[in-house]
Amino acid sequence: MKVAILGGTGSFGLALARRLAALGEDEVVIGSRDAARAQEAAQEIGTSVTGASNEDAVRGVDIAVLAVKADAALDTVHAVAEALGSTPLLSVATAIAFQKGVGALPDPSALSLAERVQAIVQGPVTAGLHSIAASNLDEAPPEEDALICGDDPEAKELTLQLVGKLVAGRALDAGPLASARALEGLTAVIVNLNRRYKAHAGVRITGLE
Ligand SMILES: NC(=O)c1ccc[n+]([C@@H]2O[C@H](COP(=O)([O-])OP(=O)(O)OC[C@H]3O[C@@H](n4cnc5c(N)ncnc54)[C@H](OP(=O)(O)O)[C@@H]3O)[C@@H](O)[C@H]2O)c1
Repeated sequence: MKVAILGGTGSFGLALARRLAALGEDEVVIGSRDAARAQEAAQEIGTSVTGASNEDAVRGVDIAVLAVKADAALDTVHAVAEALGSTPLLSVATAIAFQKGVGALPDPSALSLAERVQAIVQGPVTAGLHSIAASNLDEAPPEEDALICGDDPEAKELTLQLVGKLVAGRALDAGPLASARALEGLTAVIVNLNRRYKAHAGVRITGLE
Protein backbone atom coordinates (compact mmCIF):
# COMPACT_ATOMS: atom_id res chain seq x y z
CA MET A 1 0.00 0.00 0.00
CA LYS A 2 1.03 3.65 -0.30
CA VAL A 3 1.60 5.32 3.05
CA ALA A 4 2.13 9.02 3.78
CA ILE A 5 3.76 10.07 7.04
CA LEU A 6 2.88 13.61 8.14
CA GLY A 7 5.83 14.94 10.13
CA GLY A 8 7.85 12.06 8.73
CA THR A 9 11.09 13.94 9.38
CA GLY A 10 10.71 13.47 13.16
CA SER A 11 11.93 10.66 15.41
CA PHE A 12 8.80 8.55 15.12
CA GLY A 13 8.11 9.26 11.44
CA LEU A 14 11.67 8.40 10.41
CA ALA A 15 11.64 5.19 12.47
CA LEU A 16 8.34 4.21 10.82
CA ALA A 17 9.63 5.06 7.34
CA ARG A 18 12.83 3.04 7.92
CA ARG A 19 10.88 0.03 9.24
CA LEU A 20 8.51 0.07 6.26
CA ALA A 21 11.43 0.55 3.85
CA ALA A 22 13.25 -2.40 5.44
CA LEU A 23 10.17 -4.57 4.81
CA GLY A 24 10.06 -3.35 1.21
CA GLU A 25 6.34 -4.03 0.67
CA ASP A 26 4.92 -0.52 0.74
CA GLU A 27 5.53 2.81 -0.93
CA VAL A 28 6.28 5.50 1.65
CA VAL A 29 5.98 9.27 1.27
CA ILE A 30 7.60 11.34 4.00
CA GLY A 31 5.73 14.59 4.61
CA SER A 32 7.08 17.79 6.11
CA ARG A 33 6.24 21.48 6.27
CA ASP A 34 9.35 21.78 4.08
CA ALA A 35 9.30 19.58 0.97
CA ALA A 36 13.10 19.79 0.58
CA ARG A 37 13.60 18.50 4.15
CA ALA A 38 11.25 15.61 3.41
CA GLN A 39 13.07 14.75 0.17
CA GLU A 40 16.44 14.83 1.93
CA ALA A 41 15.14 12.49 4.66
CA ALA A 42 13.67 10.16 2.02
CA GLN A 43 16.91 9.98 0.04
CA GLU A 44 18.80 8.92 3.16
CA ILE A 45 16.43 5.99 3.64
CA GLY A 46 16.22 4.50 0.18
CA THR A 47 14.49 4.05 -3.12
CA SER A 48 11.01 3.00 -1.93
CA VAL A 49 10.71 6.30 -0.02
CA THR A 50 9.96 9.76 -1.42
CA GLY A 51 9.46 13.13 0.22
CA ALA A 52 6.96 15.97 -0.26
CA SER A 53 5.15 18.74 1.57
CA ASN A 54 2.59 17.37 4.04
CA GLU A 55 -0.20 18.45 1.72
CA ASP A 56 1.26 16.78 -1.38
CA ALA A 57 2.31 13.70 0.60
CA VAL A 58 -1.28 12.70 1.41
CA ARG A 59 -2.60 12.94 -2.16
CA GLY A 60 -3.42 9.52 -3.63
CA VAL A 61 -2.18 7.40 -0.72
CA ASP A 62 -4.06 4.46 0.85
CA ILE A 63 -3.45 5.66 4.40
CA ALA A 64 -1.77 8.64 6.07
CA VAL A 65 -0.07 8.59 9.46
CA LEU A 66 -0.25 11.68 11.64
CA ALA A 67 3.20 11.79 13.26
CA VAL A 68 3.76 15.49 13.85
CA LYS A 69 4.55 16.96 17.26
CA ALA A 70 1.35 16.66 19.28
CA ASP A 71 0.79 20.38 19.72
CA ALA A 72 0.95 20.80 15.93
CA ALA A 73 -1.45 17.92 15.19
CA LEU A 74 -4.73 19.81 14.85
CA ASP A 75 -3.26 22.68 12.78
CA THR A 76 -1.52 20.19 10.50
CA VAL A 77 -4.73 18.23 9.99
CA HIS A 78 -6.64 21.44 9.18
CA ALA A 79 -3.97 22.27 6.60
CA VAL A 80 -4.10 18.88 4.82
CA ALA A 81 -7.81 18.05 5.26
CA GLU A 82 -8.81 19.00 1.73
CA ALA A 83 -5.93 17.11 0.09
CA LEU A 84 -6.57 14.12 2.37
CA GLY A 85 -10.25 13.88 1.38
CA SER A 86 -11.73 10.55 2.47
CA THR A 87 -8.37 8.77 2.95
CA PRO A 88 -8.00 6.99 6.31
CA LEU A 89 -5.73 8.72 8.81
CA LEU A 90 -3.87 6.90 11.61
CA SER A 91 -3.11 9.21 14.53
CA VAL A 92 -0.09 8.24 16.64
CA ALA A 93 0.07 11.65 18.30
CA THR A 94 -0.18 12.01 22.06
CA ALA A 95 -0.27 15.24 24.05
CA ILE A 96 1.60 14.68 27.29
CA ALA A 97 2.92 17.27 29.70
CA PHE A 98 5.96 17.11 31.97
CA GLN A 99 5.92 18.48 35.50
CA LYS A 100 9.21 18.87 37.33
CA GLY A 101 9.47 16.47 40.26
CA VAL A 102 6.23 14.72 39.27
CA GLY A 103 6.80 13.14 35.85
CA ALA A 104 4.81 12.77 32.66
CA LEU A 105 1.12 13.66 32.85
CA PRO A 106 -1.61 12.63 30.40
CA ASP A 107 -3.55 15.28 28.50
CA PRO A 108 -6.42 16.48 30.76
CA SER A 109 -8.72 17.11 27.74
CA ALA A 110 -11.97 15.14 27.82
CA LEU A 111 -11.55 13.98 24.22
CA SER A 112 -8.47 12.30 22.81
CA LEU A 113 -6.44 14.06 20.16
CA ALA A 114 -7.61 11.41 17.68
CA GLU A 115 -11.28 12.23 18.34
CA ARG A 116 -10.53 15.92 17.84
CA VAL A 117 -8.76 15.04 14.57
CA GLN A 118 -11.84 13.05 13.49
CA ALA A 119 -13.96 16.20 13.94
CA ILE A 120 -11.79 17.94 11.30
CA VAL A 121 -11.34 15.37 8.52
CA GLN A 122 -13.86 13.81 6.18
CA GLY A 123 -12.30 10.32 6.15
CA PRO A 124 -12.09 7.79 8.98
CA VAL A 125 -9.53 8.24 11.75
CA THR A 126 -7.84 5.36 13.56
CA ALA A 127 -5.44 5.71 16.46
CA GLY A 128 -2.62 3.58 17.79
CA LEU A 129 1.11 2.86 18.09
CA HIS A 130 1.27 5.30 21.02
CA SER A 131 3.01 2.71 23.21
CA ILE A 132 5.75 1.95 20.65
CA ALA A 133 8.82 4.11 21.09
CA ALA A 134 10.58 5.34 17.96
CA SER A 135 13.84 3.87 19.28
CA ASN A 136 12.20 0.43 19.65
CA LEU A 137 10.71 0.58 16.14
CA ASP A 138 13.89 1.71 14.44
CA GLU A 139 16.14 -1.28 14.99
CA ALA A 140 13.91 -4.34 14.40
CA PRO A 141 10.23 -5.27 14.78
CA PRO A 142 9.73 -4.71 18.54
CA GLU A 143 8.49 -7.55 20.79
CA GLU A 144 5.36 -5.53 21.51
CA ASP A 145 1.68 -5.53 20.62
CA ALA A 146 0.26 -2.65 18.59
CA LEU A 147 -3.12 -1.50 19.91
CA ILE A 148 -5.39 0.13 17.34
CA CYS A 149 -8.80 1.73 17.77
CA GLY A 150 -11.27 3.35 15.40
CA ASP A 151 -14.94 3.55 14.49
CA ASP A 152 -14.74 2.61 10.81
CA PRO A 153 -14.28 -1.16 10.33
CA GLU A 154 -12.53 -0.92 6.93
CA ALA A 155 -10.10 1.76 8.05
CA LYS A 156 -9.35 -0.21 11.20
CA GLU A 157 -8.70 -3.38 9.17
CA LEU A 158 -6.33 -1.48 6.86
CA THR A 159 -4.52 0.00 9.88
CA LEU A 160 -4.23 -3.42 11.55
CA GLN A 161 -2.76 -4.79 8.32
CA LEU A 162 -0.17 -2.03 8.21
CA VAL A 163 0.88 -2.08 11.87
CA GLY A 164 0.89 -5.88 11.99
CA LYS A 165 4.04 -5.73 9.85
CA LEU A 166 5.80 -3.37 12.22
CA VAL A 167 5.84 -5.40 15.41
CA ALA A 168 6.93 -8.89 16.40
CA GLY A 169 3.85 -8.99 18.64
CA ARG A 170 0.26 -8.70 17.45
CA ALA A 171 -1.79 -5.91 15.92
CA LEU A 172 -4.89 -5.82 18.16
CA ASP A 173 -8.29 -4.20 17.75
CA ALA A 174 -8.78 -2.12 20.90
CA GLY A 175 -12.31 -0.96 20.10
CA PRO A 176 -13.84 2.36 19.07
CA LEU A 177 -11.98 5.62 18.51
CA ALA A 178 -12.92 6.69 22.06
CA SER A 179 -10.38 4.08 23.27
CA ALA A 180 -7.75 6.56 22.07
CA ARG A 181 -8.32 8.42 25.37
CA ALA A 182 -6.78 5.44 27.17
CA LEU A 183 -4.17 4.65 24.50
CA GLU A 184 -2.92 8.24 24.40
CA GLY A 185 -2.89 8.33 28.21
CA LEU A 186 -0.81 5.15 28.25
CA THR A 187 2.08 7.12 26.74
CA ALA A 188 2.52 9.07 29.97
CA VAL A 189 2.53 5.78 31.91
CA ILE A 190 5.23 4.34 29.65
CA VAL A 191 7.36 7.48 29.85
CA ASN A 192 7.18 7.31 33.66
CA LEU A 193 8.10 3.60 33.64
CA ASN A 194 11.06 4.30 31.36
CA ARG A 195 12.30 7.07 33.64
CA ARG A 196 11.79 5.10 36.86
CA TYR A 197 13.34 1.83 35.60
CA LYS A 198 15.74 3.28 32.99
CA ALA A 199 14.13 1.06 30.38
CA HIS A 200 12.45 1.02 26.97
CA ALA A 201 9.07 -0.33 28.08
CA GLY A 202 6.41 -1.57 25.69
CA VAL A 203 3.05 -3.33 25.92
CA ARG A 204 2.08 -7.01 25.58
CA ILE A 205 -1.52 -8.04 26.28
CA THR A 206 -2.01 -11.41 27.97
CA GLY A 207 -4.98 -13.76 28.01
CA LEU A 208 -6.09 -13.42 24.40
CA GLU A 209 -5.05 -16.88 23.19
N1 LIG B 1 8.91 9.55 19.60
C1 LIG B 1 8.26 8.45 19.98
O1 LIG B 1 8.87 7.50 20.49
C2 LIG B 1 6.77 8.35 19.77
C3 LIG B 1 6.13 7.14 20.02
C4 LIG B 1 4.76 7.03 19.79
C5 LIG B 1 4.05 8.14 19.35
N2 LIG B 1 4.71 9.32 19.16
C6 LIG B 1 3.94 10.48 18.68
O2 LIG B 1 4.40 10.74 17.38
C7 LIG B 1 4.42 12.15 17.13
C8 LIG B 1 5.80 12.54 16.66
O3 LIG B 1 6.73 12.30 17.69
P1 LIG B 1 8.27 12.65 17.45
O4 LIG B 1 8.99 12.25 18.66
O5 LIG B 1 8.68 12.12 16.11
O6 LIG B 1 8.17 14.25 17.38
P2 LIG B 1 9.19 15.31 16.81
O7 LIG B 1 10.41 14.64 16.27
O8 LIG B 1 9.35 16.38 17.86
O9 LIG B 1 8.36 16.02 15.63
C9 LIG B 1 7.87 15.34 14.51
C10 LIG B 1 7.70 16.29 13.37
O10 LIG B 1 6.66 17.24 13.65
C11 LIG B 1 6.84 18.34 12.76
N3 LIG B 1 6.53 19.60 13.46
C12 LIG B 1 7.18 20.13 14.53
N4 LIG B 1 6.61 21.31 14.88
C13 LIG B 1 5.60 21.52 14.01
C14 LIG B 1 4.66 22.55 13.83
N5 LIG B 1 4.62 23.62 14.63
N6 LIG B 1 3.75 22.42 12.82
C15 LIG B 1 3.76 21.35 12.00
N7 LIG B 1 4.66 20.33 12.12
C16 LIG B 1 5.55 20.42 13.10
C17 LIG B 1 8.30 18.34 12.31
O11 LIG B 1 8.33 18.10 10.92
P3 LIG B 1 8.76 19.24 9.87
O12 LIG B 1 9.57 20.27 10.63
O13 LIG B 1 9.60 18.49 8.90
O14 LIG B 1 7.50 19.77 9.32
C18 LIG B 1 8.90 17.19 13.08
O15 LIG B 1 9.89 16.48 12.36
C19 LIG B 1 4.05 12.85 18.43
O16 LIG B 1 2.74 13.32 18.33
C20 LIG B 1 4.18 11.78 19.47
O17 LIG B 1 3.21 11.90 20.48
C21 LIG B 1 6.04 9.46 19.34
